[in-house]
Amino acid sequence: MSSARRPRVVILPDETAVARALAGRIADAIGRNPRLVLGLPTGRTPIELYRELVALHEKGRADFSQVTTFNLDEFCGLPPADAGSYRSFMDRHLLAHVNVTPGRVNFLNGAAPDADAECVRYEDAIARAGGIDLQVLGIGTNGHIGFNEPARELHARTHRVTLKPETRRSNARLFGGDPAKVPAEALSMGMATILAARRIVLVATGAAKASCIERVINGGVTTEVPASFLQLHADAELMVDESAAREL
Ligand code: PGA
Repeated sequence: MSSARRPRVVILPDETAVARALAGRIADAIGRNPRLVLGLPTGRTPIELYRELVALHEKGRADFSQVTTFNLDEFCGLPPADAGSYRSFMDRHLLAHVNVTPGRVNFLNGAAPDADAECVRYEDAIARAGGIDLQVLGIGTNGHIGFNEPARELHARTHRVTLKPETRRSNARLFGGDPAKVPAEALSMGMATILAARRIVLVATGAAKASCIERVINGGVTTEVPASFLQLHADAELMVDESAAREL
């Protein structure tokens, strides 16, 4: 056991194995604590995870009725029902297919008239829920988590961000393939919001993530690789496939 190593790393053969293993852990966590507070990501990587979670739910292995969810981030300027919103993404891939209680599903409202007040509301909602028990994260090829992009300084709390051109490009698939249609701004949980979760699992698959995974594990803690801050967390784990682990 490499118990001193932070974060722990679990390497599995491929994307499907990673999705199955993580879905199983989430189902087990809900089994142990039916009122689990779950932090959830969007992106390509979690799609297979959500498919596996829906399958476990259908087999009676994951009862979401008392689970509370908080998504990491949302685009500014889009009403929740917009097909490009992360809210719609989550409905399509997970929330519409499991027995979540609507009042326990939490999103940042990107269309809120006062973005700063909306960020404060979200922080308060997380605190009122008792904090996040299990935060699932994806990672950008540049090491970002949520919309906390590499920078000289990172934001601690939920905040408004201007998206980088590469981030808008990688989200273009939600907007008919046109990066210009991707909103220029978003709201995101901050680094301290994420790191306050009691347990964190970051999931990464594919060779494009290999070099940032290597920096997260072997590099120092640096704002230039926001995910490297997981090294400071007492219960953080990386679940990666062999392609994403090939530089370790
Ligand atoms: P991806 O995005 O799963 O689409 O690679 C991950 C992220 O940017 O957080």
